[in-house]
Amino acid sequence: MSRSAPAPTELLEIAVDVAREAADTAYRMRAEGVSVAATKSTVTDVVTAADRAVERQVLDALAKLRPDDAVLGEEYGAGEGAGSGVRWIVDPIDGTVNYLYGIPYCAVSLAAEVDGEVVAGVVRNLYTGEEWTATAGGGAWRDGRRLRCSTETDLGQTLVATGFGYDSARRAHQARVVAGLIPHVRDIRRQGAASLDLCLAAEGRVDAYYEKGLAAWDLAAGGLVAAEAGLRVTGLGGRPAGPDLVIAAPPALFALLHDRLVALDASGGP
Ligand code: IPD
Ligand code: CA
Repeated sequence: MSRSAPAPTELLEIAVDVAREAADTAYRMRAEGVSVAATKSTVTDVVTAADRAVERQVLDALAKLRPDDAVLGEEYGAGEGAGSGVRWIVDPIDGTVNYLYGIPYCAVSLAAEVDGEVVAGVVRNLYTGEEWTATAGGGAWRDGRRLRCSTETDLGQTLVATGFGYDSARRAHQARVVAGLIPHVRDIRRQGAASLDLCLAAEGRVDAYYEKGLAAWDLAAGGLVAAEAGLRVTGLGGRPAGPDLVIAAPPALFALLHDRLVALDASGGP
Protein backbone atom coordinates (compact mmCIF):
# COMPACT_ATOMS: atom_id res chain seq x y z
CA MET A 1 0.00 0.00 0.00
CA SER A 2 1.25 3.51 -0.83
CA ARG A 3 2.85 5.20 2.15
CA SER A 4 0.76 8.30 1.57
CA ALA A 5 -2.57 6.53 1.05
CA PRO A 6 -5.13 6.95 3.80
CA ALA A 7 -6.67 3.96 5.58
CA PRO A 8 -9.56 2.23 3.79
CA THR A 9 -11.98 3.47 6.47
CA GLU A 10 -11.00 7.04 5.74
CA LEU A 11 -11.52 6.53 2.00
CA LEU A 12 -14.88 4.90 2.73
CA GLU A 13 -16.04 7.92 4.74
CA ILE A 14 -15.30 10.14 1.75
CA ALA A 15 -16.96 7.70 -0.63
CA VAL A 16 -20.14 7.56 1.46
CA ASP A 17 -20.45 11.35 1.73
CA VAL A 18 -19.90 11.82 -1.99
CA ALA A 19 -22.20 8.95 -2.99
CA ARG A 20 -25.05 10.21 -0.79
CA GLU A 21 -24.97 13.63 -2.38
CA ALA A 22 -24.72 12.05 -5.83
CA ALA A 23 -27.71 9.80 -5.13
CA ASP A 24 -29.75 12.81 -3.96
CA THR A 25 -28.97 14.63 -7.21
CA ALA A 26 -29.86 11.61 -9.32
CA TYR A 27 -33.13 11.16 -7.42
CA ARG A 28 -34.05 14.82 -7.76
CA MET A 29 -33.25 14.86 -11.48
CA ARG A 30 -35.41 11.76 -12.00
CA ALA A 31 -38.31 13.45 -10.22
CA GLU A 32 -37.90 16.47 -12.49
CA GLY A 33 -38.16 14.25 -15.59
CA VAL A 34 -35.62 12.29 -17.56
CA SER A 35 -34.77 11.88 -21.20
CA VAL A 36 -32.08 10.20 -23.25
CA ALA A 37 -29.16 12.55 -23.89
CA ALA A 38 -27.17 10.22 -26.16
CA THR A 39 -26.50 6.60 -26.97
CA LYS A 40 -23.17 4.85 -26.47
CA SER A 41 -22.20 1.36 -27.66
CA THR A 42 -25.63 0.58 -29.22
CA VAL A 43 -28.99 2.36 -29.57
CA THR A 44 -30.20 0.74 -26.35
CA ASP A 45 -27.09 1.77 -24.38
CA VAL A 46 -28.34 5.17 -23.27
CA VAL A 47 -26.93 8.02 -21.28
CA THR A 48 -29.20 10.56 -19.62
CA ALA A 49 -28.35 14.11 -18.61
CA ALA A 50 -28.36 12.81 -15.04
CA ASP A 51 -25.60 10.24 -15.71
CA ARG A 52 -23.35 13.08 -16.80
CA ALA A 53 -24.39 15.62 -14.17
CA VAL A 54 -24.01 13.11 -11.35
CA GLU A 55 -20.58 11.96 -12.50
CA ARG A 56 -19.49 15.59 -12.87
CA GLN A 57 -20.65 16.26 -9.30
CA VAL A 58 -18.71 13.24 -8.00
CA LEU A 59 -15.55 14.25 -9.89
CA ASP A 60 -15.79 17.83 -8.59
CA ALA A 61 -16.30 16.66 -5.00
CA LEU A 62 -13.35 14.26 -5.20
CA ALA A 63 -11.14 16.90 -6.81
CA LYS A 64 -11.80 19.17 -3.82
CA LEU A 65 -11.30 16.51 -1.16
CA ARG A 66 -8.53 14.43 -2.79
CA PRO A 67 -6.91 16.53 -5.54
CA ASP A 68 -3.97 14.17 -6.15
CA ASP A 69 -6.02 11.03 -6.75
CA ALA A 70 -6.75 9.43 -10.12
CA VAL A 71 -10.32 8.74 -11.27
CA LEU A 72 -12.11 6.42 -13.65
CA GLY A 73 -15.75 7.07 -14.48
CA GLU A 74 -18.24 5.56 -16.88
CA GLU A 75 -19.16 8.82 -18.58
CA TYR A 76 -15.94 10.89 -18.55
CA GLY A 77 -13.31 8.15 -18.56
CA ALA A 78 -9.94 8.33 -16.86
CA GLY A 79 -8.31 11.28 -15.13
CA GLU A 80 -4.70 11.02 -14.02
CA GLY A 81 -3.73 11.82 -10.47
CA ALA A 82 -0.52 13.15 -9.00
CA GLY A 83 0.83 9.86 -7.71
CA SER A 84 -1.14 9.46 -4.47
CA GLY A 85 -1.65 5.77 -5.27
CA VAL A 86 -5.44 6.20 -4.92
CA ARG A 87 -7.87 5.83 -7.81
CA TRP A 88 -11.63 6.35 -7.53
CA ILE A 89 -13.95 4.31 -9.73
CA VAL A 90 -17.43 5.72 -10.27
CA ASP A 91 -20.61 4.60 -11.93
CA PRO A 92 -22.87 7.64 -11.49
CA ILE A 93 -26.00 5.62 -12.26
CA ASP A 94 -25.79 1.86 -12.48
CA GLY A 95 -29.06 0.62 -13.93
CA THR A 96 -29.55 3.49 -16.37
CA VAL A 97 -32.35 1.72 -18.21
CA ASN A 98 -34.22 1.24 -14.91
CA TYR A 99 -33.62 4.92 -14.20
CA LEU A 100 -35.08 5.85 -17.56
CA TYR A 101 -38.21 3.78 -16.89
CA GLY A 102 -38.56 4.75 -13.21
CA ILE A 103 -37.86 1.25 -11.89
CA PRO A 104 -36.45 1.63 -8.37
CA TYR A 105 -33.36 -0.50 -8.90
CA CYS A 106 -30.52 1.85 -9.71
CA ALA A 107 -27.53 2.97 -7.75
CA VAL A 108 -24.56 5.23 -7.40
CA SER A 109 -21.44 3.08 -7.15
CA LEU A 110 -18.16 4.51 -5.88
CA ALA A 111 -15.00 2.62 -4.99
CA ALA A 112 -11.46 3.55 -4.00
CA GLU A 113 -8.45 1.57 -5.14
CA VAL A 114 -5.02 1.81 -3.56
CA ASP A 115 -2.19 0.64 -5.79
CA GLY A 116 -4.66 -1.12 -8.06
CA GLU A 117 -6.58 -2.96 -5.35
CA VAL A 118 -10.14 -2.00 -4.37
CA VAL A 119 -10.05 -1.21 -0.63
CA ALA A 120 -13.32 0.68 -0.05
CA GLY A 121 -16.68 0.82 -1.78
CA VAL A 122 -20.22 2.08 -1.43
CA VAL A 123 -23.31 1.27 -3.47
CA ARG A 124 -26.41 3.34 -2.75
CA ASN A 125 -29.84 2.66 -4.23
CA LEU A 126 -30.92 6.17 -5.15
CA TYR A 127 -34.64 5.34 -4.80
CA THR A 128 -34.73 3.33 -1.58
CA GLY A 129 -31.73 4.81 0.22
CA GLU A 130 -30.40 1.30 0.92
CA GLU A 131 -26.65 1.63 1.22
CA TRP A 132 -24.04 -1.11 1.17
CA THR A 133 -20.44 -0.48 2.19
CA ALA A 134 -17.25 -2.49 2.52
CA THR A 135 -13.58 -2.05 3.27
CA ALA A 136 -10.91 -4.61 2.47
CA GLY A 137 -10.67 -6.85 5.52
CA GLY A 138 -13.34 -4.85 7.36
CA GLY A 139 -16.44 -6.71 6.23
CA ALA A 140 -19.54 -5.75 4.27
CA TRP A 141 -22.33 -3.75 5.87
CA ARG A 142 -25.79 -2.39 5.29
CA ASP A 143 -27.47 -0.04 7.74
CA GLY A 144 -25.21 -1.06 10.61
CA ARG A 145 -25.65 -4.77 9.99
CA ARG A 146 -22.72 -6.97 8.99
CA LEU A 147 -23.55 -9.04 5.93
CA ARG A 148 -23.00 -12.72 5.24
CA CYS A 149 -23.75 -14.45 1.96
CA SER A 150 -26.15 -17.34 1.43
CA THR A 151 -25.39 -20.73 2.97
CA GLU A 152 -27.11 -22.61 0.14
CA THR A 153 -25.19 -25.68 -1.06
CA ASP A 154 -27.49 -27.13 -3.72
CA LEU A 155 -27.25 -25.61 -7.20
CA GLY A 156 -30.82 -26.71 -7.86
CA GLN A 157 -32.02 -24.44 -5.03
CA THR A 158 -29.94 -21.46 -6.09
CA LEU A 159 -31.43 -18.12 -7.12
CA VAL A 160 -28.96 -16.69 -9.63
CA ALA A 161 -28.81 -13.07 -10.72
CA THR A 162 -27.28 -12.12 -14.03
CA GLY A 163 -27.34 -9.40 -16.65
CA PHE A 164 -26.95 -8.84 -20.35
CA GLY A 165 -24.79 -6.49 -22.38
CA TYR A 166 -26.08 -3.95 -24.88
CA ASP A 167 -24.72 -5.57 -28.05
CA SER A 168 -27.33 -7.78 -29.70
CA ALA A 169 -24.93 -10.57 -30.76
CA ARG A 170 -23.60 -10.71 -27.21
CA ARG A 171 -27.13 -10.79 -25.82
CA ALA A 172 -27.99 -13.70 -28.10
CA HIS A 173 -25.08 -15.70 -26.68
CA GLN A 174 -25.97 -14.69 -23.11
CA ALA A 175 -29.55 -15.81 -23.70
CA ARG A 176 -28.30 -19.25 -24.80
CA VAL A 177 -26.24 -19.49 -21.61
CA VAL A 178 -29.27 -18.63 -19.47
CA ALA A 179 -31.37 -21.17 -21.38
CA GLY A 180 -28.79 -23.82 -20.51
CA LEU A 181 -28.53 -22.79 -16.88
CA ILE A 182 -32.15 -22.24 -15.91
CA PRO A 183 -33.14 -25.95 -15.80
CA HIS A 184 -30.40 -26.51 -13.20
CA VAL A 185 -31.14 -23.68 -10.74
CA ARG A 186 -34.10 -22.44 -8.69
CA ASP A 187 -34.55 -19.44 -10.97
CA ILE A 188 -32.86 -16.53 -12.69
CA ARG A 189 -33.17 -12.81 -11.87
CA ARG A 190 -32.28 -10.06 -14.36
CA GLN A 191 -32.90 -6.94 -12.35
CA GLY A 192 -30.81 -4.44 -14.28
CA ALA A 193 -27.97 -3.12 -12.10
CA ALA A 194 -24.86 -5.21 -11.62
CA SER A 195 -23.65 -3.34 -8.53
CA LEU A 196 -26.95 -3.96 -6.75
CA ASP A 197 -27.03 -7.60 -7.86
CA LEU A 198 -23.66 -8.07 -6.14
CA CYS A 199 -24.94 -6.32 -3.00
CA LEU A 200 -28.06 -8.49 -2.91
CA ALA A 201 -25.80 -11.55 -3.14
CA ALA A 202 -23.83 -10.15 -0.20
CA GLU A 203 -26.85 -10.58 2.04
CA GLY A 204 -28.35 -13.72 0.55
CA ARG A 205 -31.24 -11.91 -1.21
CA VAL A 206 -29.99 -13.82 -4.22
CA ASP A 207 -27.63 -16.77 -3.78
CA ALA A 208 -25.18 -16.04 -6.59
CA TYR A 209 -24.46 -13.82 -9.57
CA TYR A 210 -22.58 -14.05 -12.84
CA GLU A 211 -22.21 -11.85 -15.89
CA LYS A 212 -19.98 -11.40 -18.90
CA GLY A 213 -18.94 -7.95 -20.06
CA LEU A 214 -18.84 -5.94 -16.84
CA ALA A 215 -16.77 -2.79 -16.81
CA ALA A 216 -14.63 -1.76 -13.84
CA TRP A 217 -17.27 0.74 -12.64
CA ASP A 218 -19.99 -1.94 -12.58
CA LEU A 219 -17.84 -4.28 -10.51
CA ALA A 220 -15.52 -2.32 -8.22
CA ALA A 221 -17.69 -1.39 -5.22
CA GLY A 222 -20.25 -4.22 -5.44
CA GLY A 223 -17.49 -6.79 -5.97
CA LEU A 224 -15.80 -5.73 -2.74
CA VAL A 225 -19.13 -5.83 -0.86
CA ALA A 226 -19.77 -9.36 -2.15
CA ALA A 227 -16.25 -10.60 -1.38
CA GLU A 228 -16.32 -9.14 2.12
CA ALA A 229 -19.64 -10.92 2.73
CA GLY A 230 -17.96 -14.24 2.01
CA LEU A 231 -18.71 -14.82 -1.67
CA ARG A 232 -15.93 -15.95 -3.97
CA VAL A 233 -15.70 -13.30 -6.67
CA THR A 234 -13.53 -14.41 -9.59
CA GLY A 235 -13.48 -15.12 -13.29
CA LEU A 236 -13.14 -18.54 -14.88
CA GLY A 237 -10.31 -20.91 -13.98
CA GLY A 238 -9.17 -18.81 -11.02
CA ARG A 239 -8.59 -15.72 -13.14
CA PRO A 240 -9.55 -12.39 -11.63
CA ALA A 241 -13.12 -11.23 -12.17
CA GLY A 242 -13.31 -8.96 -15.19
CA PRO A 243 -14.91 -8.35 -18.57
CA ASP A 244 -14.60 -12.03 -19.61
CA LEU A 245 -16.73 -13.16 -16.70
CA VAL A 246 -17.60 -12.33 -13.12
CA ILE A 247 -18.85 -15.14 -10.91
CA ALA A 248 -19.85 -14.30 -7.34
CA ALA A 249 -20.94 -17.37 -5.43
CA PRO A 250 -20.78 -18.68 -1.86
CA PRO A 251 -17.83 -21.08 -1.45
CA ALA A 252 -20.07 -24.17 -1.33
CA LEU A 253 -21.75 -23.27 -4.62
CA PHE A 254 -18.82 -21.80 -6.46
CA ALA A 255 -17.44 -24.89 -8.21
CA LEU A 256 -20.92 -26.11 -9.16
CA LEU A 257 -21.86 -22.81 -10.79
CA HIS A 258 -18.40 -22.25 -12.27
CA ASP A 259 -18.30 -25.67 -13.95
CA ARG A 260 -21.81 -25.28 -15.32
CA LEU A 261 -20.85 -21.87 -16.76
CA VAL A 262 -17.70 -23.36 -18.33
CA ALA A 263 -19.82 -26.07 -19.96
CA LEU A 264 -22.14 -23.39 -21.33
CA ASP A 265 -19.23 -21.28 -22.62
CA ALA A 266 -20.45 -18.31 -20.58
CA SER A 267 -17.31 -16.30 -21.26
CA GLY A 268 -17.45 -17.06 -24.98
CA GLY A 269 -19.30 -15.38 -27.80
CA PRO A 270 -18.82 -11.78 -28.87
C1 IPD B 1 -25.45 -2.02 -16.78
C2 IPD B 1 -26.19 -2.68 -15.64
C3 IPD B 1 -26.76 -4.01 -16.08
C4 IPD B 1 -25.70 -4.93 -16.60
C5 IPD B 1 -24.91 -4.26 -17.72
C6 IPD B 1 -24.35 -2.93 -17.26
P1 IPD B 1 -25.44 0.66 -16.75
O1 IPD B 1 -24.84 -0.81 -16.36
O2 IPD B 1 -25.33 -2.89 -14.54
O3 IPD B 1 -27.40 -4.69 -15.02
O4 IPD B 1 -26.32 -6.11 -17.08
O5 IPD B 1 -23.85 -5.15 -18.06
O6 IPD B 1 -23.69 -2.32 -18.34
O7 IPD B 1 -25.31 0.77 -18.24
O8 IPD B 1 -26.85 0.67 -16.32
O9 IPD B 1 -24.57 1.59 -15.99
CA1 CA C 1 -23.93 3.68 -15.59
